[in-house]
Amino acid sequence: MTTMPKPTPATVSTMRAITYDTYGSADVLALADIARPVHSEEEVLVRVHSAGLDRGAWHIMTGKPYLGRLAFGLRAPKDRVLGSEVAGTVDAVGSAVTRFVPGDEVYGFAKGSFAEYAVTRETRLAAKPNNLTFEQAAAVPVSGATALQALTDAGRLQPGETVLVIGASGGVGSYAVQIAKALGGVVTGVASSGKLDLVRSLGADHVLDYTRDDYADGSTRYDLVVDIGGNPTLSRLRRALTASGTAVITGGEEGGRFSGGMNRQLRAVALSPFLRQRLTMFIAKQRSSDLERLTALIETEQVIPSVDRTYRLPEAADAMRRLEAGDVRGKLVISI
Ligand SMILES: NC(=O)c1ccc[n+]([C@@H]2O[C@H](COP(=O)([O-])OP(=O)(O)OC[C@H]3O[C@@H](n4cnc5c(N)ncnc54)[C@H](OP(=O)(O)O)[C@@H]3O)[C@@H](O)[C@H]2O)c1
Repeated sequence: MTTMPKPTPATVSTMRAITYDTYGSADVLALADIARPVHSEEEVLVRVHSAGLDRGAWHIMTGKPYLGRLAFGLRAPKDRVLGSEVAGTVDAVGSAVTRFVPGDEVYGFAKGSFAEYAVTRETRLAAKPNNLTFEQAAAVPVSGATALQALTDAGRLQPGETVLVIGASGGVGSYAVQIAKALGGVVTGVASSGKLDLVRSLGADHVLDYTRDDYADGSTRYDLVVDIGGNPTLSRLRRALTASGTAVITGGEEGGRFSGGMNRQLRAVALSPFLRQRLTMFIAKQRSSDLERLTALIETEQVIPSVDRTYRLPEAADAMRRLEAGDVRGKLVISI
C-alpha cells in the first residue's frame, strides 16, 4: 500500500475560515473550507493563532450602518472572511517585505483574520509583545490603536489633565482607561453597574454608573472626554467639558441604521470652530507605529489586555451573539 505524504504548509492550499455571503445576524456566519489567501510581493502571510472580535466586525457582518456598505460592499460583502485583528506566526513573506521573516511572532491588522491564514501588509504588523499570549495579543490591535489615537492624535492629552472615558468597560474603553493613566491623566470611567469593578481594576481613579449617575450634570468638568458609548448629544458632551476642553467622538451604537451617528460627528466638527471647546472625531488608522507604542506600554505592564473569554473558530457565531448581547467585559478572542 502506498502511503500519502503528510501535507506540509507549502502544499496545503485550503483552510478553515468563518465566512458569510450576505449581510445579517450571527446566523449568516459559517465555518467553511476555502482557498488559502495568496500574498503579493508587498504582503505577509500570517498563520493565525488568534483573532480579536471587535465591534467593527459586527458592523461589517450586519452591513450596518448602511453608509458603511460603501466600503464593505453595496449589495453583499466584498470580503467573504470576517475579522480584522490578528496574532500569529509569519508563514511567508513577499519579496518586497523587509521587516519580517517566516517564524516571527506578530500581531496587527489583517482582513479575514477569522481563518487559519490571513494576508496583510508589513506596515500593519508589529512584533508580538513578549509578555503576551497570542490570545491576549489578538485583543489589542483595533481597540488599542483606536484608544491610543483618541487620546493622543485627536485628544492631545497632557499629563495631569482630567479625562472622562464614556464606555470604559468595552473593547476601546478598556484600553483608553489604561493608556490615559499611563499618559498621566486623572481618569473617570463610565460603564454599567455590573462592570464598574472591571473599570476600577483597569486603574480608573473614579467610576460612574451610566444607569444612575449623570456625568453631564455640571458638578465635575473634564479637560478631555473620550466618547465611546451611549451617543450623548453634543450639548451633553459640552456640559461635561471645561471651558476649553476637548471631546473626541469615537463611536456609539445607537446612532441609527443609515448613518450610525455620523450626523452627530459631522455636526460636532462643523460647530467646533465657533467654540472655545474643541469637538472632534476621527477614523482610526491601521499603522505599525501605533502597535509599537502599544507594545512599549504592554511590555512595561502599563497596559494589560482585558480578555473576557476565548472561543474556538467554529464558535465564532456564539462569540458574536455574546458581543451583541452587551455582556462582554473588555474583548472576546477567537482561537484558531
Ligand atoms: N472611530 C473609529 O475609528 C472607531 C474604531 C473602533 C471602534 N469604533 C466604535 O466605537 C464604539 C465602541 O467600540 P467598542 O469596541 O469599544 O464597543 P464595545 O466593546 O461594545 O463597548 C461599548 C461600550 O459602550 C458602553 N455603553 C453602552 N451604552 C452606554 C450608555 N448609554 N452610556 C455610556 N456608555 C455606554 C458599554 O458599557 P457597558 O458594557 O458597561 O454597558 C461599553 O463600555 C463602537 O460604536 C465602534 O463602532 C470607532
